[in-house]
Amino acid sequence: DASDIEKGTYPHYMLKEIDEQPLVMRKIIQNYQDGEGALEIDSDIVKAMKDADRIYIIAAGTSYHAGLVGKQFIEKLAKIPVEVHISSEFGYNMPLLSEKPLFIFISQSGETADSRQVLVQVKEMGYKALTITNVPGSTLSREADYTLLLHAGPEIAVASTKAYTAQLAVLAILAEVTARGIGHEVDFDLVQELGIVATAMEALCDDKEEFESIAREYLTVTRNAFFIGRGIDFYVGLEGALKLKEISYIQAEGFAGGELKHGTIALIEEGTPVIALATQEFVNLSIRGNVKEVVARGANPCIISMSGLETDEDRFVIPEVHSLLTPLISVIPLQLISYYAALHRDCDVDKPRNLAKSVTVE
Ligand code: AGP
Repeated sequence: DASDIEKGTYPHYMLKEIDEQPLVMRKIIQNYQDGEGALEIDSDIVKAMKDADRIYIIAAGTSYHAGLVGKQFIEKLAKIPVEVHISSEFGYNMPLLSEKPLFIFISQSGETADSRQVLVQVKEMGYKALTITNVPGSTLSREADYTLLLHAGPEIAVASTKAYTAQLAVLAILAEVTARGIGHEVDFDLVQELGIVATAMEALCDDKEEFESIAREYLTVTRNAFFIGRGIDFYVGLEGALKLKEISYIQAEGFAGGELKHGTIALIEEGTPVIALATQEFVNLSIRGNVKEVVARGANPCIISMSGLETDEDRFVIPEVHSLLTPLISVIPLQLISYYAALHRDCDVDKPRNLAKSVTVE
């Protein structure tokens, strides 16, 4: 049938979509470049960003995790304060809003009912909204004032992969263009850095056997798994844990390294897999300290570090990219490890139980 043709030679949409990520990066760069090769965003959107005294990012699931990273991009480059909220909570638990808020809705499908419900509410309050989505003409796109597209192509697998990295790339571009619009200096070339990201993604996608063996070694028999990280690595850990739980049904949680000792460490038993991300120089020693703490309690550690920060104990080293952009590539090992863990456990990778691709009920 038609869906078989689309999958080509791939056994699952998820694997195909993971592999498409370098291409999606290059498409995004192209789509957001002006005639001279500089990054460009619709001037009305840049104005709305500049006019805002605070940005509220609203999203669910993986898109929420992208929002957490997006906050770092916008605050570091454009220097506008950002809050990130889960859409299902925001409606009845609205924080005290700033005087000139701008709302950014992140949604792969553009159809998530929890997010739409907030959009309707904030539009009624008279505020402006921007939707970042993969689907032109989707409800959230139509009902917002502005749209930025992901250009990731249709995402069929329930577990979101290429949409997440596309969301990060578009958020980085939005942050960079806004920063320049405000007059803040950006001391790196984002087009070039995203090109480096695309190449690094390719290298990771070529290393599938390695991730299959990590999945086999750590995740075939376990009933739980933890992901730890500090700074943006923590946010990527949240996304890694969501991927793993939704397709392999292993109970997985992401934690901030420093928070372990405040409770979670009680869960560590002999052989508990702890996947630690170490891509940030300023917390490299402290995250490795956290690994020592869990190892002392019997954990089976899997350190994924970035080139330049690696030590002999690391299980995998990802290529070096700009320190702000590491989530775009550190997530790929986690996507592939989850994929193989689900496969080894005979799970339905593309259509996990109890889940729908877009959640159109509140
Ligand atoms: C991702 O793997 C999940 N299936 C899910 O969390 C998803 O990201 C969430 O439902 C939000 O969907 P959206 O991006 O289409 O709004």
